[in-house]
Amino acid sequence: MHDKPTILVVDDEPGVRQSFNIVLKDKYKVFLAGTGEEAIDLLSRKSIGLALLDIRLPDLDGIELLGKLKEIDPNCEIIMVTAVKEIKTAVKAIKLGAYEYILKPFSVEEVLNTIKRALEKHELEKEVTYLRNELQRYQPFEEIVGQDKKMQEVFGIVSSIADSDGAVLIQGESGTGKELVARAIHNLSLRKIYPFVVVNCAAIPPNLMESALFGYHKGAFTGAVATTLGKLEIANRGTVFLDDIDTLDINMQAKLLRAIQEKEFERLGGTKTITVNVRFIAASNKDLTRLIEEGRFREDLYYRLNVFPVTLPPLRERKKDIPLLLDHFLRLNAKNTGKPLKRFSKSAIKTLMEYDWPGNVRELQNLVERSFTISRNPVIHLDDIAPYRRKRADFKEMTLKEAVADFERRYVNEVLELVNGNKKKAAEILAVHRNTLSAKMDSTKPK
Ligand SMILES: Nc1ncnc2c1ncn2[C@@H]1O[C@H](COP(=O)(O)OP(=O)(O)O)[C@@H](O)[C@H]1O
Ligand SMILES: [Mg+2]
Repeated sequence: MHDKPTILVVDDEPGVRQSFNIVLKDKYKVFLAGTGEEAIDLLSRKSIGLALLDIRLPDLDGIELLGKLKEIDPNCEIIMVTAVKEIKTAVKAIKLGAYEYILKPFSVEEVLNTIKRALEKHELEKEVTYLRNELQRYQPFEEIVGQDKKMQEVFGIVSSIADSDGAVLIQGESGTGKELVARAIHNLSLRKIYPFVVVNCAAIPPNLMESALFGYHKGAFTGAVATTLGKLEIANRGTVFLDDIDTLDINMQAKLLRAIQEKEFERLGGTKTITVNVRFIAASNKDLTRLIEEGRFREDLYYRLNVFPVTLPPLRERKKDIPLLLDHFLRLNAKNTGKPLKRFSKSAIKTLMEYDWPGNVRELQNLVERSFTISRNPVIHLDDIAPYRRKRADFKEMTLKEAVADFERRYVNEVLELVNGNKKKAAEILAVHRNTLSAKMDSTKPK
């Protein structure tokens, strides 16, 4: 998967071209051009990381050619090759965006070092573009919590498929951890030092999708002021995460399929074929086979993506993980805020385990953050999480007397919990006799 970087050598003397070729061909994929015109043609068709440019060419002067090459591909690094008497021109070239110049005669070592540095810069710049594109919302290795059998199975699949290049399709309700799992696959793979690029299919307007994925050339459309890389190109050697793939419109599905199959595409407004090496991970909270039946999702794309299927269970089907997740997010909140750790009261945990969590782990995470922030005590009680106490319908069906009794029971239980079950203390706080307290506890047992 580690492709050789590509280098274009432009020199009118066949002997010079051949010597470069001999020196470079082991480490790099080399293209040779004898004229400026040939160079322009090659750069328009191929992905080239770096060009070695002779300042004196028969058809074009080196400075002019530099400008043209930079216009075709601003990301291509250029090293000028020059004789001593042309140093002034070489300096001008640098001002115009060339990376460096090498003086003739040069040593092989010098050439190789300069190329290496230029290509490193090239990679770095790509990385910067990537970082700008991708808000780092996640820690590099975020913990995935789950003792449930289905989650353990998911962990097994994740580690066994990480090193493969096959596409992954992650299905599960919203908030079940699809993106988290996608990042885990990337972080466990050899691609981890390269970008993980998120394409949020639901958030990108359909008319901008193609340019977002494939990039565009300067002037491709109104407002295309500079040649811009698409997400697939930014992700080269890394992973592309296609979130909410079901929302991709049917035309884009066809274009994406082609890019996945051929591993190549064209930027908008360009004819050059860009070759990329990326792994695709797609996610959806819809049943894609249903969408295929309804003619809204391409079957061939589905099979392309579904090489490794991963299904995440909804939280209500693994309720035993709820206390672990509560604990996990409490610790995370304490760490992120620098505040002391808090815990949920036992009755709060019990209520939260009875709840169905339609928003899954995301909803739970938000609840923990809210209650961690709001609660002023080290123990978070049901009152801090009022909406989760009960479904509203339950309240409506209660008479006032029942509602009062219900409140009394909850309140008594909470106070008891606060004093670790010490009835004497609880009676003191509640200002009732111990016998009254016992009676209340008995008469208000949960149904
Ligand atoms: N098993 C889990 N353990 C820890 N955190 C989780 C887990 N599942 C989801 N999360 C967290 O819940 C939030 C929602 O997860 P996400 O991956 O964005 O869900 P989805 O993409 O399925 O909607 C994220 O902040 C994520 O870190
Ligand atoms: Mg998501």
